[in-house]
Amino acid sequence: MSDIFFNEDRDLKNCWDKYSNEHLDSYLVSGVEDPRINCQSILTRGLIGDSLWPGELGDLINAEMQFGAVMTWLMRKLDDGVSRETLMDAVTSGNDEIVPKFVIQAYSEGLREDCIVPDYITDSLVDISNDREETQLNELSLNTFIHLWEFATRGRTCKPVSIIEAACGSANDYRFINRYGLAEHLRYSGFDISSKNIANATNRFDDVDFFVGSIMDCGAANESYDYTFVHDLFEHLSIEAMEKALEEVVRIVRKEAWLHFFNAAKVDDHEVSRVSGYHWNTLSVDRVVRSLERLSASVEVINIAEMLEGKFGYQDYHNQQAVTMIVRKS
Ligand SMILES: C[S@@+](CC[C@H](N)C(=O)[O-])C[C@H]1O[C@@H](n2cnc3c(N)ncnc32)[C@H](O)[C@@H]1O
Repeated sequence: MSDIFFNEDRDLKNCWDKYSNEHLDSYLVSGVEDPRINCQSILTRGLIGDSLWPGELGDLINAEMQFGAVMTWLMRKLDDGVSRETLMDAVTSGNDEIVPKFVIQAYSEGLREDCIVPDYITDSLVDISNDREETQLNELSLNTFIHLWEFATRGRTCKPVSIIEAACGSANDYRFINRYGLAEHLRYSGFDISSKNIANATNRFDDVDFFVGSIMDCGAANESYDYTFVHDLFEHLSIEAMEKALEEVVRIVRKEAWLHFFNAAKVDDHEVSRVSGYHWNTLSVDRVVRSLERLSASVEVINIAEMLEGKFGYQDYHNQQAVTMIVRKS
């Protein structure tokens, strides 16, 4: 680990390693964070798919993003206490005072015989086994796109690509990259500062290159991977460490870095907020972009809420500050 960031790395490690292995293994893979419905996780899988088969899976990727939007909307409503019956009635009767049009539209599409995406809305709202919490969507519906990805990629060949994931947690995203059939086409490495996370990840996948490391100095050689991706880390670093982390992700990739932020806004300056042992900053999109451009990269900024509104008319995505940056090396 880098000397300059030794203390910060130690504090970050303690922040995550203080939790139990069981907690770390599950806390970011449920509810609206479930990578099967989280739109930024869906975006990562779409980017992986597009890097393997450029331009060939656009319809599937778009349909999965719509699925993520619909399932997130349903999950939020159930969390707000709206009953399954109320939602199902409103969907089937096309009541757009209760259910937004994009959800009703997804339901109608799912009923069409020629639609490859089944009616996952009915699957998610009915047929819940008794041992489930009332707010959970059922597994059958959550797994809809696992089957569609498997089907779309079965028998396809491609040139393998190499990907390194920083702050991989307990293989939070990788476990689904694997279940969706994408991992077999990748040379994947994942690292995290928490040894408990890496123990969990290795426990699940003992033949995958998971290692303990810091994004400030991860040990990978210059341009040793085609791509990297990072979910929900940069806001937790000091601004100095974040700048170093941006340098590091640009340094280690040949092609692109996909950086996902949960708290980045159109503000002039970063808003620093230190909480016990780590940070919970609001990052300035413009400042992050300028830092990346100084590293000779070009940046495409995707505000997730705006993208979902533009594509599907989803108006109240719960996190208006979720931002993804696709960083291309010049
Ligand atoms: C909010 S969690 C996100 C985990 C995972 N990327 C996800 O989205 O589910 C932040 C993760 O960053 C890891 N982390 C914190 N500081 C780090 C550092 N300096 N380098 C690498 N990983 C770090 C933590 O251990 C934790 O797993």
